[in-house]
Amino acid sequence: MATGMLHSHYLFVVLFTLIYLIKTILLLSDRDELLEKFKKKTKVLEIIVSFGFLATGVFLMFQMPHIPTLMYVKIGLVVLSIPLAVVGYKKKNKVLATLSFFLIVVSFGIAQKVKKEKAGGTILAMSGKEIFEEKCTLCHGGDGKLGMSGSKDLSVTQLDHAGIVTIVTVGKNTMASYKSTLSAEQIEAVASYIETDIKGK
Ligand code: HEC
Repeated sequence: MATGMLHSHYLFVVLFTLIYLIKTILLLSDRDELLEKFKKKTKVLEIIVSFGFLATGVFLMFQMPHIPTLMYVKIGLVVLSIPLAVVGYKKKNKVLATLSFFLIVVSFGIAQKVKKEKAGGTILAMSGKEIFEEKCTLCHGGDGKLGMSGSKDLSVTQLDHAGIVTIVTVGKNTMASYKSTLSAEQIEAVASYIETDIKGK
């Protein structure tokens, strides 16, 4: 669900930026007539795209376990760019319009940076399956049955969700604790993956 949302958010952002890029180019190159035509043609599309962009953005924000400071900067820039764009394109003020476009692009860059910083930290960046494949298959194998270095067969584990979360968080014997390498959300995700895709299979 969250991944689908993320993809729609990207799609909306790309469309939104594209519309603005074209508008900015037309404005800067004094193609007033074309700009008016383009504005008319894309009016409805723009409303849909802007709404989708904001709605998916807000939805995703509420999915985040904690909102990084940079995210606020990003939202601030997007919010600031809207009145600038409205005034800029209406009054055909090149400076304001360009500034507005620039803010959108910068906030795009910030979003990428937030994503990179959180690469080790968010449910959106990595699914339970991906975490399992990267961190756990060495000992447990892709199907949980490998049993390397005395590890338990996860397909027959008697542990419930909370039990799995505890073992992964604090570790047990040769299995290290993942408290410092995985976030609480990632541990939740990997535990859910074991429950749905490995246990009893
Ligand atoms: C270095 C090898 C190793 C890695 C890597 C490893 N484990 Fe383990 N795991 C073990 C061992 C050994 C045990 C058995 C511990 C014991 O009971 O003595 C175990 C036990 C478990 C158990 C308890 C099973 C049961 O029924 O008691 C779970 C759940 C588990 N591991 C999940 C994971 C997850 C999730 C990961 C990846 C984040 C992971 N393990 C990575 C070695 C490993």
